[in-house]
Amino acid sequence: MKKKLVVLTGAGISAESGLKTFRDSDGLWEGYEIEEVATPHAWKKNPQLVLDFYNMRRKNVLEAVPNAAHYTLAELENRFDVHIITQNVDDLHERAGSAKVLHLHGEILKMRSEINEEIVLPVRGDILWGDKAPDGYQLRPHIVWFEEPVPMIETAAAITRQADIFVVIGTSLAVYPAAGLVNYAPWEIPKFIVDKKIPSTSALYNLQGFEAPATEGIEHLRKALLALE
Ligand code: APR
Repeated sequence: MKKKLVVLTGAGISAESGLKTFRDSDGLWEGYEIEEVATPHAWKKNPQLVLDFYNMRRKNVLEAVPNAAHYTLAELENRFDVHIITQNVDDLHERAGSAKVLHLHGEILKMRSEINEEIVLPVRGDILWGDKAPDGYQLRPHIVWFEEPVPMIETAAAITRQADIFVVIGTSLAVYPAAGLVNYAPWEIPKFIVDKKIPSTSALYNLQGFEAPATEGIEHLRKALLALE
């Protein structure tokens, strides 16, 4: 029976694939204020700007490739029952080969009806104003914007509660409810964090930190995990 390895990832794991993080770029997302492009209000006020912002990020994701951190997590599936819970909207974990990936904040390669979140379709090109879902309403990015509920959080918490080992890679742990997942990991299990600059909020019991870029820290993590197999 393989041990259950639960991994919470954030933008930092995709940084070395060339995708910008959110809080390293002095609070601007590719030059935009979050309020302008990633809230329901932004969508009402200027949907074209929101569509342009996500169309650009979708192009960036399609140009990016997984890095050693994504690939190592996929390889660990040979030894552990790996569950990835990611805040990222890119598909780099999937492209690296991870089989169980839960996206807390949506997926940039999907779009949905602006009034019915059950109507979800794949998208690799641009979403244009006037593009309609089968229900006749405008299509929007399948992304969880600020102030919107995080539908997958309960599922993510249930997975985290079952962890035998818990790992955090490349997240500032600044955004809730995602950041609150660390509190669902069983108190006594071994926990690890890999980050270029380990966030202070990660004071967890039985935690070992590897302060390094993800592609470097992942090697130390792999060695530590193999010792726990
Ligand atoms: N290797 C490892 N860690 C890195 C690297 C790297 N090369 N580069 C940056 N980091 C770390 C930073 O130190 C930081 O802790 O990754 C983290 C990035 O934090 P954020 O930019 O806040 O990204 P994230 O935590 O994923 O944001 C959470 O907030 O903006 C919303 O919905 C958005 O999903 C996002 C959520």
